[in-house]
Amino acid sequence: MIYLTRRERFNAAHRLFRKEWTDEENYEVFGKCSNPNWHGHNYQLFVTIKGDVNPKTGFVINLKQLSKIVREKVISKIDHKNLNLDVDFMQGKITSAENIAIAIWNEIETDVNKLDCFLHCVKVVETENNSIEYYGNK
Ligand code: NI
Repeated sequence: MIYLTRRERFNAAHRLFRKEWTDEENYEVFGKCSNPNWHGHNYQLFVTIKGDVNPKTGFVINLKQLSKIVREKVISKIDHKNLNLDVDFMQGKITSAENIAIAIWNEIETDVNKLDCFLHCVKVVETENNSIEYYGNK
């Protein structure tokens, strides 16, 4: 078994908040990410797959195919967008890095697993100091 990771980047705005809470209550829980007038992050997304090396190619999968899936299913929908307002797969969710990672996993898992490999990890890096890794619902 071998692991391969593809990095993509996106820039997006968001706000962490519960609408039934006051701005003060939201700040208490979500800190600066609860700013009522939004803010942005330069996110990095690392998608890791696992599989066996194909002896004919020496590759586990064709990276172009993986990149195409991630770009079409995820990056095209979230880059330079507002995660709370613009992104179909984040509707009704708190736009934490945790929920972003889970939602991205759900968006790409079926297509990635058709590539003769298995999706292993979706990592979302929100800041230099904070990142989330999701390994699926298991
Ligand atoms: Ni934030």
